[in-house]
Parts: sequence; C-alpha cells; structure tokens
Amino acid sequence: MKLEEVFESYNENIMPTYTKMPLVFVKGKGSRLWDIHNNIYLDFFPGWGVGNLGHCHPKVMSAVREQVSKLIFIPNNYYHLPQAKLAREIVYWSFPSKVFFCNSGAEANEAAIKFARKFGKGKYEIITFENSFHGRTMAALSATGQKKYQSGFEPLVEGFKTVRFNDLEAVKNSVNDKTVAVLLELIQGEGGINIASKDFVLGLRKLCDEKGLLLIIDEVQTGVGRTGKLFCYQHYGITPDIMTLAKALGAGFPIGCMLVKKDIADTLTAGMHASTFGGGPVICRVASAVLKAIKKEKLLANAQKMGEYLLLLLNTLKDRYEIIKEVRGVGLMTAVELNIEGKGIVDKCISKGLLINCTHERVLRLMPALNVKKKEIDQAISILDEALR
Ligand SMILES: Cc1ncc(COP(=O)(O)O)c(C=O)c1O
Repeated sequence: MKLEEVFESYNENIMPTYTKMPLVFVKGKGSRLWDIHNNIYLDFFPGWGVGNLGHCHPKVMSAVREQVSKLIFIPNNYYHLPQAKLAREIVYWSFPSKVFFCNSGAEANEAAIKFARKFGKGKYEIITFENSFHGRTMAALSATGQKKYQSGFEPLVEGFKTVRFNDLEAVKNSVNDKTVAVLLELIQGEGGINIASKDFVLGLRKLCDEKGLLLIIDEVQTGVGRTGKLFCYQHYGITPDIMTLAKALGAGFPIGCMLVKKDIADTLTAGMHASTFGGGPVICRVASAVLKAIKKEKLLANAQKMGEYLLLLLNTLKDRYEIIKEVRGVGLMTAVELNIEGKGIVDKCISKGLLINCTHERVLRLMPALNVKKKEIDQAISILDEALR
C-alpha cells in the first residue's frame, strides 16, 4: 500500500474516533520506530504506556512464537498452563490475592466496580477523583473524573462521587452509609501526571480500614515497572484491596487483570463475571515473559536510574525556559507542565524525530521504555530543547 492509500482507507473505512498524526509506522526495535519512508523516530511514549519493554522485545517475540505453535486458545471453562503460571507470578510479585483476567484497562476497572457492588451487599457508592481516568466503557467512564470524556454519553452509571485529588477531608466528607470503595490512580496519567501524596494515600488506607471500604488502585498506567517499582503502590508502603492492571503487562498484546486480596476474592463465584478472551494461552505466556524480562534485565533499577537522569535534564530545561511551569515524575513516568498549550511543542518534536505526548492541554508526557539508554535520553532532551527554543 502507498501512503495515500493508507490514509484513504482510514478515512473511508475507519471511524474517526482518534486524533491522528500523519505517520505510518512499519517497524520497531527498542526505543526506535521506522516509518514508511524509513525515517527513524525515538519513541518516548511507546504505545500510550504499553511499551515498557520497548518495541519487539526478543523475549516477547519468542514467547509468542513458542505459544502459537503449541496452543493458541483455550476458553475459561478448561485449564491451561500459561494462565496458571502467570497468575502465580503476578500474585507472588504483588500481594496475597486472586486474579481475574480480561483484555483491557477499562474492562479490568469494570470488573473492580462489579466486584465492589457484589461485595457491598447493597452498598454501591464509589468515591473517585477529579482529573482521574479509568476507561471508556460506561461504568469506567462514569468513574472517570473528567467531564470532557463523559459529555454526550449521559445518563452515566450512577453510584460515583468525584472529589478533589489529594484531599483526604473531601473523601471523609463524602463517605456515607452507601459507600463501598475508593478508586484511584496513585499517579494520574491522562489527568496530567498528578502524584498522590504519601500522607493522602496513608490516610486513605486508614480511612478504608476504619470504615470497611475497599481501596481500589488503578495501576493500568503506573503498573509493571513504569515508576521504578513493579507496582506504584509499593512506593507508599500500603497494600490495596483491589488492583487493576493492563497496558504494559501485555507488551502490545491485549490484557487486563484485576487482583483482589485473597480473603475476599471468592465474593465472585462461577457465572458472576466472565470474559471470553481473558487470560488466553498466548497473552499469558507473553505477560510471563514481560515479568521475567523486567526481573532478569534489572529494568526496575534502570527505570529508577534513567528516571532520575531524565528529571535532572528536564529540570535544566526548566531553568532555561520560562514557558515550563513545572517538571515532575516518578521513575520513567515524567511530565513537563507548560504555561502554554503543548501541541505545538509535540508537533515540533515529532518533526525532529521524537515522539512524545501532550495530555491535559499543557502537560508534555514522557514515558520511555524501561530499558531506555542514557544516550537516547540525551538525544530526546536535545530535540525537546530545540523545540522549546
Ligand atoms: C489509569 C488508566 N485506567 C484505565 C485506562 C483504560 O485502559 P484501556 O484503554 O486499556 O481500556 C487507562 C488508559 O489510558 C488508564 O490510563
């Protein structure tokens, strides 16, 4: 297909639900992408948080090859080895829990919301936060604290109360006899890389314990090494009651996952919830390879080290450019908040071969692969510097 044919097919045949850059990619390796003209790009926002291992990681490729040649799919009314192994690994690396597998972040959050309702035995209200993002399906959308995503899709699913992020008093004031859970991202991704304070999270954990509420942590974007720990809650010294994962766990293959602490996990029994594709052999094999690569290749340590280096360089840009309001981040989940709209800067970076994202109109989001190299960060910063200039 020629470039024009690709654009023509998209225009004619695909619903226009995404804002698109006119780039057609054909190949990827590590932090690099090749377009149809053989131009090379440095990818500092791989797959919207999916690409923690970078593009085409060899362990992911061999996991797929090995599994597709053995057994591609087995539904959930039978057993298979890859699901048994992956569940054991995820539980081992997180907290005593049981797992429900599905196919996306929204679906994992839907599962958590359904779980909370069943657990609540009539209590159903969930407290969520301004500027949060939990997905596009109806309940996840209703939980999302951003009107721009909800507008036009009313009536929303009832039972969500949205309060200010990092405001423990607001949460306390919203708890009533119908409240069953608190749902939050520890670092709001789509909302602009807003970091939950330690006091706030410890306060939430205490409040949930006192009131018998479920603390549901959405780690769809923060999970699987992004912040320099395997899961972001591990920075806070707390354990969630429920955690949702997706994105990077599948390295580009669709997976969603809800973990529920062990002593309450059997609240959902046979027939109460399901997903045909959830936890199939190929994706489970891939996710095991992802976890293995993170451990074997010491990618958490690299994410911490490279994250510090990236923040250091971003802060030197802040010292030089007044349009930068703030630089923030944890591990390799980093942001540059501007005093102006970020789209022009993103376009300029792309034209110079660096892919980054802008969220919340003014927040540049840089989330390179966990195996990013120092020289790739240097190159990205030099392009960003040029764009800011
Ligand atoms: C924190 C968070 N939760 C949920 C979702 C929804 O995930 P998905 O697009 O896989 O449904 C996202 C997607 O960006 C997210 O960042």
